[in-house]
Amino acid sequence: MHSSRTSSSRPLSLLVLGGTRFLGRALVESALADGHRVTLFNRGLTAPGLFPDAETVLGDRTESLAALDGRRWDAVVDVAGYHPEVVARSAEALHGRVGRYVFVSSLSVLADQRTPQCETGTVLELRDGQPPHELYGARKAACERLVLSAFSPAATVIRPGMIVGPHDPTDRFAYWPRRFARGGRVLLPGDPADFAQFIDVRDVARWILTCIRSGLDGVFHTTGLPQPFGEFFEACRTVTASTATPVWAPTPALLAAGADPWMGVPMWIADPDCTAINQVDTTRARAAGLQLRPLPETLTDTLAWDTARGLPTPEGLTPAEEQRLLATLIPA
Ligand SMILES: NC(=O)c1ccc[n+]([C@@H]2O[C@H](COP(=O)([O-])OP(=O)(O)OC[C@H]3O[C@@H](n4cnc5c(N)ncnc54)[C@H](OP(=O)(O)O)[C@@H]3O)[C@@H](O)[C@H]2O)c1
Repeated sequence: MHSSRTSSSRPLSLLVLGGTRFLGRALVESALADGHRVTLFNRGLTAPGLFPDAETVLGDRTESLAALDGRRWDAVVDVAGYHPEVVARSAEALHGRVGRYVFVSSLSVLADQRTPQCETGTVLELRDGQPPHELYGARKAACERLVLSAFSPAATVIRPGMIVGPHDPTDRFAYWPRRFARGGRVLLPGDPADFAQFIDVRDVARWILTCIRSGLDGVFHTTGLPQPFGEFFEACRTVTASTATPVWAPTPALLAAGADPWMGVPMWIADPDCTAINQVDTTRARAAGLQLRPLPETLTDTLAWDTARGLPTPEGLTPAEEQRLLATLIPA
């Protein structure tokens, strides 16, 4: 692993492309808390005025980054780049003006999700006629390649798995502590030994800052340890002091009842091409300093945030659909 260490004692100047929705927001919060100087570059549409202690430069990265001309930063974090042509524009505009380019990619780049993969696993290639479910990963893989080729050995590619925690724009994780807190018969998908795998957004944020401070180059799988669903739901029950009655619905029965195999029940993935999607190898990042907070902390903070924001529209499983599945599969 090449390491071009950035002194950890002095505050860093950081440019964040994005920074106001979920991961970027957690990153900016962490960076400011650590005393770093932060510049955000975004359109000013998402949560304007969120960070009065950071500089915001307005612009649309799909059009021009000219508003950043002539400036230098210790590192840029490209949090929300999805298209190679857009990331190429940023990489070109910032070349020679940042000490490190951190690109936030995704584990969706992995071509084989049926066997546990480390960073050397084959990634998707962009191609004509690509199936829609591969496009996101193939585009991210193309973005990774161009950042690595333009900035190595000062390029870091972070590949998160499912990111959870406060301000998650999806309802995949928050659903569970909320559901356990509500009580009654709770539909649990699959088998207690099936794996879940996810990471607290604040742990991803801290890890990005570690990569910058320590000058860590290359690709890092960035997610939690595989955790049996049975243990995950037990933690949900304990944290919420729930009186709910868990009702397990095996995967074949859920599929037969018409549940969407891709998170028709939140966090449940029954796609036969994704049997190892929750067993990704994170040895490299953990050896280099990735820290994971205890699950009860993530559950407690997520539930507090979810309660404060008010009831969202559940993603994937409405109370009515849960009732239908329970009544069909496991009559009381
Ligand atoms: N959630 C997961 O489970 C998961 C898993 C794996 C990987 N990831 C990756 O993690 C990242 C999460 O991103 P996030 O949404 O949390 O990032 P974020 O930085 O918190 O929010 C997105 C930012 O992009 C800005 N933006 C959007 N379009 C823009 C444009 N055309 N020009 C300039 N700024 C623009 C938005 O501000 P304005 O709207 O004001 O411009 C906003 O600040 C993504 O790269 C995703 O692929 C997520």
